[in-house]
Amino acid sequence: MELKEIINKVFAERFGAEGTIYASAGRINLIGEHTDYNGGFVFPGAIDKVIMAEIRPNDTDTVRVFSIDIDEYVEFGLNEADAPSQSWARYIFGVCREIIKRGGTVKGFDAVFAGNVPLGAGLSSSAALESCFAFALNDLFNGNTIDKFELARIGQSTEHNYCGVNCGIMDQFASVFGKKGHLMRLDCRSGEYEYFPFNPEGYTLVLVDSVVKHELADSPYNKRRASCERVAKRLGIETLRDAEMHMLEAIKSDITAEDYLRAKYVIEEKQRVLDVCDALNAGDYDTVGRCMYATHAGLSHDYEVSCEELDYLNEIARECGVTGSRIMGGGFGGCTINLVKNDLLDKFTATARDRFAARYGHEPKIYEVVISDGARRVE
Ligand code: GLA
Repeated sequence: MELKEIINKVFAERFGAEGTIYASAGRINLIGEHTDYNGGFVFPGAIDKVIMAEIRPNDTDTVRVFSIDIDEYVEFGLNEADAPSQSWARYIFGVCREIIKRGGTVKGFDAVFAGNVPLGAGLSSSAALESCFAFALNDLFNGNTIDKFELARIGQSTEHNYCGVNCGIMDQFASVFGKKGHLMRLDCRSGEYEYFPFNPEGYTLVLVDSVVKHELADSPYNKRRASCERVAKRLGIETLRDAEMHMLEAIKSDITAEDYLRAKYVIEEKQRVLDVCDALNAGDYDTVGRCMYATHAGLSHDYEVSCEELDYLNEIARECGVTGSRIMGGGFGGCTINLVKNDLLDKFTATARDRFAARYGHEPKIYEVVISDGARRVE
């Protein structure tokens, strides 16, 4: 059965009625990692892995939600004091609260949801969940008057205020704005974005999931962000977007070696996103690939968000002659994104499976990336 049919069936069994179905997507990011909260550029796209929900207003003040995947039912009220303890339900509660805080309307509703975005793989299942509900509640209770960027910010504020992750805007932006066949270059300082048709002829984008789980709450993720903010403050600028290497060198002796490395990575990554956009426009995939490897090295050695398994996957890609490969997303586990020539695809995936399994005792999961639409109503 398709996801939609399963959700429809469970909703009817549980609530004896039919609601409206919404979906939103996980995301990939070609390049521009840990740049969003530094006011830099990112280059994500939504993928064909979604969170889907059927929702129906219930004329009460209570939200009643069933998660098919977790097999758990939660009810909560819409006041601040009603926050549920289950982490998955806090995403939905947070979205409701953030809409209300902005003067929007949310009334009680019934919902059933499920998804196929792999959890903990760095594909932003949480952003998909947030933007699915933000989009739906905008449609059901607010006549679609909340603009799309604000929907993304509602998801981001949910992470900050209800989930303990001090994230940037990239994931929720990608999930809300995603468009089939297109990547998006977002300037996280100005909010300006541009759609790039992405159809690299002769190449495939492949994710290799190490199946090592990461947990971003209370995590080194927030510490990375704090490092960047300290350096920006020391430089007297709002974010590292405005920093150049010579400025960083000038204060090197005043900051910790660790903060220096974090900021160095961010400054270099800012330029790489722009270089990749130019290279893509010119059809120069070798340069795209070189930048991806350089990002991996920076994330591993300077930003220190990689792990042994991901470094190993990157090494395997390089040895196989893969054009570009790097850790993707927040880090501390998850997957690598790989730009692979089509005629190398089978050899690379087989080698990655065999060698990774021989060393770590389990195979990585491999997904071909299909760039797809983001948040939407499912007809
Ligand atoms: C996580 C965060 C994003 C972004 C990435 C790293 O996915 O949610 O905001 O910072 O990590 O690029």
